Amino acid sequence: MQRPDIAEPGRRDFAFRTRDFKRVQGLIYAHAGISIADTKEEMVYSRLSRRLRATELSTFDEYLSYLEMAGNETEWEHFTNALTTNLTSFFRESHHFPMLVQHLTGLTRERPLRVWTCAASTGEEPYSIAMAVAEAFDTLSPPVQILATDIDTKVLTVASAGVYDAKRVADLPSGHVRRFFQRGSGTHAGQVRIKPELAALVRFKPLNLLTSEWLGLKPFDAIFCRNVMIYFDKPTQYAVLKKLTDLMEPDALFFAGHSESLLFASDLVRLRSHTVYERAAIGTPAVTVTRAKHLLRTLA
Ligand SMILES: C[S@@+](CC[C@H](N)C(=O)[O-])C[C@H]1O[C@@H](n2cnc3c(N)ncnc32)[C@H](O)[C@@H]1O
Repeated sequence: MQRPDIAEPGRRDFAFRTRDFKRVQGLIYAHAGISIADTKEEMVYSRLSRRLRATELSTFDEYLSYLEMAGNETEWEHFTNALTTNLTSFFRESHHFPMLVQHLTGLTRERPLRVWTCAASTGEEPYSIAMAVAEAFDTLSPPVQILATDIDTKVLTVASAGVYDAKRVADLPSGHVRRFFQRGSGTHAGQVRIKPELAALVRFKPLNLLTSEWLGLKPFDAIFCRNVMIYFDKPTQYAVLKKLTDLMEPDALFFAGHSESLLFASDLVRLRSHTVYERAAIGTPAVTVTRAKHLLRTLA
């Protein structure tokens, strides 16, 4: 999703003091874990000044106090949506997809396979996963369920609609476009829409990686957590990774972004291949049973 990041230099409708910027940095860090660099003041001004206009407030001080008033969830949503960066594309970091399908097709489960993409943005990533598994299982209804979540509710609306500018699929093999997309005509000329059967594999849901609103999720066979950790500092990355690895099956894979190394968390994950991780050694059920038997023998 493209949006202009920088206000025209020297043209500010509202005063934006360093104090205001620091307050924004603190609020978005506490709410979403996002660390905004000190160099991003202009970008933050540009994105948030729209919220001042929308709320008809005349200073950042008033706006931020309004935001902090109890029960102002809707403005928190706007505030967060304004400050996220949602750059994505179909089959981004393409080496991950053959690895994912090799992994999934090698699993034996008596249930549909579960994949989670936890920073799904406008949907290109989960739909790429859906296309890859549909190809691998040679059906538009493979035994795979994809959960696609993001903190940003605006991008999830785009993702659920599954409608894209045709330019965004220009680099995909033509067979993929024919098989998985419908081309728009009339007022929709120049657009493509994900086919309903493929879209049915993906469930979209807002979810903040920082909170525990994701309780109740079942363990996954693969997790895509790409290009979101870069916005978090190390303690936040570790805390998020801990929760994510707790939701991985013992043999699940974790896909990270190209510039995200998780080697600092070697107690949680182990590198399997370029930016692909598996869980660090954990007690498998077999080991646990052996230990339990040993304990029973000792107690007898
Ligand atoms: C750069 S995009 C990455 C999209 C996709 N994973 C990819 O690699 O192409 C980062 C996404 O992370 C989301 N995000 C940022 N903080 C988040 C949080 N605390 N919880 C969930 N999603 C978050 C943003 O809304 C944004 O859509």
